[in-house]
Amino acid sequence: MRVLGIETSCDETAAAIVERDDQGHGRILSNVVLSQIADHAPYGGVVPEIAARAHVEVLDRLIGQALQEAHITLDDVDAVAATAGPGLVGGLIVGLMTGKAIAMAAQKPFYAINHLEGHALTPRLTDRIDFPYLLLLVSGGHTQMVLVKGLGDYERLGTTIDDALGEAFDKTAKLLGLPYPGGPEVEKAAVLGDPDRFTLPRPLKGEERLDFSFSGLKTAVRQLATTLEPLSQTDINDICAAFQTAVADTLDDRVSRSLRRFRQSFPDVEEPALVVAGGVAANKVLRDGLQELCSENGFRFVAPPLALCTDNAAMIAWAGAERASDQAPADSLDIAPRSRWP
Ligand code: KG4
Ligand code: ZN
Repeated sequence: MRVLGIETSCDETAAAIVERDDQGHGRILSNVVLSQIADHAPYGGVVPEIAARAHVEVLDRLIGQALQEAHITLDDVDAVAATAGPGLVGGLIVGLMTGKAIAMAAQKPFYAINHLEGHALTPRLTDRIDFPYLLLLVSGGHTQMVLVKGLGDYERLGTTIDDALGEAFDKTAKLLGLPYPGGPEVEKAAVLGDPDRFTLPRPLKGEERLDFSFSGLKTAVRQLATTLEPLSQTDINDICAAFQTAVADTLDDRVSRSLRRFRQSFPDVEEPALVVAGGVAANKVLRDGLQELCSENGFRFVAPPLALCTDNAAMIAWAGAERASDQAPADSLDIAPRSRWP
């Protein structure tokens, strides 16, 4: 089963060819991603209109490149899969219409993929892990703890009630005058800072529910920055260190509860796994913290390679390949993009 995948839900334009064999093993034949970060950086965040136009400009060429790098033509593809949501609707329309048009012209089955399902199934492509497992998705747009029970069978255990974690990193960076995207900048500054000089809140820590909240943390950073104005480099480093420590602590609390919940739901799973995905999973301090938590609790920690943790089309192609191999009926070409799709 060889699938062409297309991803345009946010600020990455991506096309990929992925193969899945009868044993369920996956292979990436090509994976092309073009980031629009430079287009959005002057505005300090993703501008939907700019994103949609940028997708239109490059998508055809990227699909051609993905086929070429895989050394195949459209004839060798068994199905087409494109992200149908959730995301910025302008970008979704571009990828979805392109995918449908190719499927129609080449007479291939078409699969409309939920972007979050793409993230959720990635570890089966990279690490061949079996259902069920836990997924922590932490990106610029999403913060979710998901129980992945089977193909098409997902239970969201918790989500953010305000900002996504990546968004909190980006907003904090902006408040401190650091460039976009802020996550890597905050991490770099934090390494040089003193995490004990300031104490920031740990939102929802200790609560039984598995939701996340990050806007209070951002507000606390704003207040701190206003009090200290003008900020020295040391102040910025110390605030970043305090912020990252508060985030690590919060994740630790939310995730350890989720691990316990998983054990209760699936007492017979011998080697349970926690998978991380999303751009924030690039953060070394957070990653190390999660890894430690997993080893303390007898969980396997799975972090797909960074290029497959962040937005890409290989995960969309793979989700399509999993569905097609499962004899799932193809989607109708009438399907519409969904900016919200839980
Ligand atoms: O998954 P992703 O590439 O894109 C989407 O959100 O769709 O995630 C991007 C997010 C941004 O908010 C960025 O600031 C954050 O991931 N990020 C990081 C780090 N690298 C990227 N956050 C914290 N530490 C990092 N090292
Ligand atoms: Zn994503």
